[in-house]
Amino acid sequence: MSDDRLIVALDVPNALQGLQLTEQLGDAVSFYKIGLGMLTGGGLALANELKQDHGKRIFLDMKLFDIGATVENAVRGLAQFNLDFLTVHGDPHVVRAAKEGSAGKELKILAVTILTSLDRNDLDAGLIRPGDVPEIVRERAARAFDAGADGVIASPQEAAMIRALPEASSKLIVTPGVRPTGAELGDQKRVATPAQAIADGADHIVVGRPVWAANDPSAAARAILDELSS
Ligand code: C5P
Repeated sequence: MSDDRLIVALDVPNALQGLQLTEQLGDAVSFYKIGLGMLTGGGLALANELKQDHGKRIFLDMKLFDIGATVENAVRGLAQFNLDFLTVHGDPHVVRAAKEGSAGKELKILAVTILTSLDRNDLDAGLIRPGDVPEIVRERAARAFDAGADGVIASPQEAAMIRALPEASSKLIVTPGVRPTGAELGDQKRVATPAQAIADGADHIVVGRPVWAANDPSAAARAILDELSS
C-alpha cells in the first residue's frame, strides 16, 4: 500500500507530461494534485483518467472564488467527476456555496487560508487587515470550518496551531510549502520538512518542485516517503 499522506503536485504544463510523470512514479505515489497551470493542457481529463483507470486519488486545486451561485454551480459540475479534494478560498460565503454544490458527493472541500507564498508585505499590498500572518490564518481557518469546510490548506508552520482549534476536530489539514532538508525554497516562504508537517498535525503534505523538477523524481518521492515512515 502506498502512503497517501504524500500528495505530489503535477505542476507540469499538460496532461501528457503529467501522465509521464505519474508513470515514472508508479505505485509509490497514490495521490496527485492537479491545478490551474494544467487547466488548458487537459488537466481535468488527466484527473479523470488517473482516478478511473489508475485508481489514484485526485486533489483538484482550483482555488475558486466568486459569488455564491457561481461557486455552487462550478462545484456541482466538478463534483460529478468523483474526485477527492477541491480547493476554494476560505471566505465563508464561498465555502458554504461549495458545500451546497458538493452535497451528496465524496468530494472534500478544502479552504485556502492564506497562500503559503505570501508574507505580511504581500498582505499589506493586498489591503488585508493588520495582524500577524499566523493570527489571520487561524481566524480564517476557524471561520472556514464553521462554514462547513472539510479541511484547510495551510503552511506547515501553522498546522499545529490549526490542529489545536476546537473547530478543527475531525477536519483535514493539508500543507503545501513542504521542503525536504536541503531542497530549494522557490517562492515558498513559510516551509517545513515533510516529517515536521505531519508531526504538527497535517493529514497530507503537498510537494511539487522537489519531486517533479528533480533529476530523479522517483528517488525524490521515495526519499520523502521514507522520511514519513521513519
Ligand atoms: O513546488 P511546490 O512544492 O512549492 O508546490 C506547491 C503546490 O501547492 C503548488 O501547486 C501550489 O500552487 C500549491 N499551493 C501552495 N500554497 C497554498 C495552496 C496551494 O503552495 N496555500
